[in-house]
Amino acid sequence: MNAKISQLVEAAPAVLPSLLLCDFGNLATEVERLEDAGVAALHLDVMDGVFVPNFTYGMTIVSALRKLTDITLDVHLMMVNPEKYVDAFVDAGSDIVTIHAEAVDDAVPVLNQIREKGAAAGIAVNPDTPVSKISNAIAHADLALVMSVNAGFGGQSFIEPVLSKLGEIRELKGGENVILEMDGGINKSTIAKCTAVGCQLCVAGSAVFKTPFGNDYSAAIEDLMGEVASEDL
Ligand code: DX5
Ligand code: ZN
Repeated sequence: MNAKISQLVEAAPAVLPSLLLCDFGNLATEVERLEDAGVAALHLDVMDGVFVPNFTYGMTIVSALRKLTDITLDVHLMMVNPEKYVDAFVDAGSDIVTIHAEAVDDAVPVLNQIREKGAAAGIAVNPDTPVSKISNAIAHADLALVMSVNAGFGGQSFIEPVLSKLGEIRELKGGENVILEMDGGINKSTIAKCTAVGCQLCVAGSAVFKTPFGNDYSAAIEDLMGEVASEDL
């Protein structure tokens, strides 16, 4: 297992802040605040405006973040033709590169490409995509990302039925060891439902960056983790 992934397994369950709603005008300060909060990884939401009806950023922001921090960069590619860009995202400093099962005909060669470049490979499924879609690919992945909102925007509501997917992934041949990540609508009222079904990495955007704690991200993350049942810690 990739060393960065092993560190995340050690840290689990963990909140990964999603860099979509942060203050990009003060990225260095934001990263310092997140380092002070002791986050295990940063979740970078890359959107191409085609796979999802939203557009964010690309390799330049990954490179900028790589210069700012040693924290694991967990890069979520919401894009068509990811095979064209995974090398560049790894070269830019990504530690984990996750592609969407819906964006490729066959995820296996792209997952292998990510691993051959030296990063950990993740496979993501949107809420409407059945786990069966990744039954072949999962054995070639280090991480499975179960979307609990439709990819594209922060601030959406948690789609509860996806919770059953984590157990289904664990049942897949090759699914027993992947790290399980959920993404979207994770907040104080939903995080415990995620960890209760085995979620190891809980991605949070609004619940970290849009809270009464302002930019005290330690307090926001502590408040979130305070909802996680002791037996899941
Ligand atoms: C949505 C992104 C998520 C989202 C999380 O496409 O993948 O990471 O930004 O934001 P919240 O936590 O606000 O749903
Ligand atoms: Zn994401």
